[in-house]
Amino acid sequence: MSDNKNIDQHTGTETTDHEWDGVKELNTPMPKWWIGIFYISILWAVGYAVAMPAIPLLNGYTKGLFGWSDRVKVAEAIDEMHAERAVNAQALIGAGITQIENNPELLRFATEQGKALFGDNCETCHGKRGLGVVGYPNLNDDIWIWGGSFDEIKYSINYGIRAAHDDTRLSTMMAYGRDEILEPKQIDDLVQYVLQLSGQTSDGAASMRGATLFAENCTSCHAVDGTGSRENGAPNLTDAEWLYAGDAKTVRASIFDGRNGVMPNWNERLREEQIAALTFYVHSDLGGGE
Ligand code: HEC
Ligand code: HEC
Repeated sequence: MSDNKNIDQHTGTETTDHEWDGVKELNTPMPKWWIGIFYISILWAVGYAVAMPAIPLLNGYTKGLFGWSDRVKVAEAIDEMHAERAVNAQALIGAGITQIENNPELLRFATEQGKALFGDNCETCHGKRGLGVVGYPNLNDDIWIWGGSFDEIKYSINYGIRAAHDDTRLSTMMAYGRDEILEPKQIDDLVQYVLQLSGQTSDGAASMRGATLFAENCTSCHAVDGTGSRENGAPNLTDAEWLYAGDAKTVRASIFDGRNGVMPNWNERLREEQIAALTFYVHSDLGGGE
């Protein structure tokens, strides 16, 4: 009788003896596979807690038999990166172009660093990608005021131009008009001669008078033929490329007021390897390096 009472008539399954309004609760056992996984999980958790860092304590945590630590792993990875960077930085300081170009890792390092540093420090003046704006030279072309070799570019970046450093590049384009070195009429003649030098239409007679004045006043820096000199940072006046501009009005302003563009010295703001990376970037990536 009591057996009958505990077995559900329809399914033949044992019941829990609980009954609500004639509805009985079947006592179905958990499947064996589920119970198996359940015990394995408990064993795994105990094993894990013993082997790996797991239980927080007042001062720290249980380290586990394996002594694994994510923090140590990350610190190791960072140290590795720093070491790699230091090696590249050190290699870059003394390297010339061929050494950089022949070492793929150094090449990647110099290019990435140079590009980022140029964006942060140089584009404000030299324009996007160093394409230049009035008064700030284009660093992509073959025209160099002070020189386009690796060493000359490095020197310009290190010590600047008319900058506050003892070794900075110096030269002065005098204010021939403002400082009354020449008469306004003479400056007009010189403007015509400069127009002629650069292949633009000019007043012939004025230009001839200008040629004499040019020989007397300007050739020490801009050279006898007007092609300029890197020693004096004096631009070539015979090409069609201008630091300021080549129209009569701007040329007159250049002669009347003088020009003295300032480029800061970077040796006190950037590290040696950063200057090296920038030099490489200007010389090779922007192009036009000699
Ligand atoms: C404050 C403005 C300014 C900033 C910033 C600046 N430059 Fe210059 N740079 C100049 C000027 C102006 C000249 C031209 C100087 C002259 O008239 O001779 C120049 C000239 C140069 C030259 C020589 C070009 C030649 O034809 O010989 C190089 C190379 C150069 N800059 C590189 C850089 C690099 C690299 C940076 C960033 C680290 C930089 N400059 C940041 C203003 C700047
Ligand atoms: C002591 C050297 C020196 C002498 C002398 C000199 N210049 Fe210059 N000149 C320069 C320099 C340096 C620059 C560029 C200044 C700068 O980079 O900001 C320049 C720039 C110029 C420019 C602007 C060029 C451009 O690309 O926009 C003109 C034009 C010019 N000079 C004409 C003359 C004339 C004409 C004379 C003679 C009356 C003269 N210079 C004498 C050094 C000199």
